[in-house]
Amino acid sequence: QQHIPVIAIDGPSASGKGTVAQLVAKKLGYHYLDSGALYRIVALAAKAQNISWQDGLSLADLASKLNISFKDGEIYLNEQNVSEEVRTEEMGKGASQVAVHPALRLELVSLQHSFRKAPGLVADGRDMATVIFPDANTKIYLTATAEVRAERRYKQLMSKGIHANLADILLDLQQRDARDQQRTVAPLQQAKDAILLETSDLSIEQAVRFVLDQSN
Ligand code: CDP
Ligand code: CDP
Repeated sequence: QQHIPVIAIDGPSASGKGTVAQLVAKKLGYHYLDSGALYRIVALAAKAQNISWQDGLSLADLASKLNISFKDGEIYLNEQNVSEEVRTEEMGKGASQVAVHPALRLELVSLQHSFRKAPGLVADGRDMATVIFPDANTKIYLTATAEVRAERRYKQLMSKGIHANLADILLDLQQRDARDQQRTVAPLQQAKDAILLETSDLSIEQAVRFVLDQSN
């Protein structure tokens, strides 16, 4: 699998990773891995089975038994479409809590590697370039100021008809950034060989163009 190209896109919450990664994958005809969805699914399944988000070993055991699949941009857990359920802010928070456990992260490695299929893969998350695909051909660290990211998340929620409060979103974002950056295993950080893309003043199209130019 080592020769199959990978474009790794990491960055903080609401920086636009998912949107940009999916558009780049579509443009190139590559596969797409939403690694954050895996942590969200574990948080969701744990809640349903009364397993604590603090219990790393039980979470790893749970993950080893989960039947996760992706089809047409939708996420399935045991054949059930959980796309809406995993996208909630509650599961975003839950994901960042389960994601601190080394045993769980280890359990999810081979599943993530299995997405590396011809003709190529675009993977987004927090540790794509640093841990999961250290040999990725293109590494992008996508970011934007916390204020811009909160605004983006706010608009995204409102457009879905979900009532939200901008100040609460900003606070949640900052807490999640801190937890993701401060954990001991696979913290959120720019890989040494990654290219920084500050998108606060960029449109989605400009960010996509930048990534495509870097991957040539
Ligand atoms: O995956 P991640 O949490 O990093 O972010 P996302 O869900 O892809 O993007 C969050 C929101 O920001 C979406 O509604 C995007 O359309 C929007 N966005 C934007 O307005 N401008 C950009 N340059 C990138 C994303
Ligand atoms: O869309 P957003 O950026 O808000 O979140 P996400 O990419 O779905 O990730 C949710 C949480 O999962 C993050 O806050 C991280 O704590 C964790 N995560 C991780 O630890 N490693 C990854 N490769 C992806 C996500």
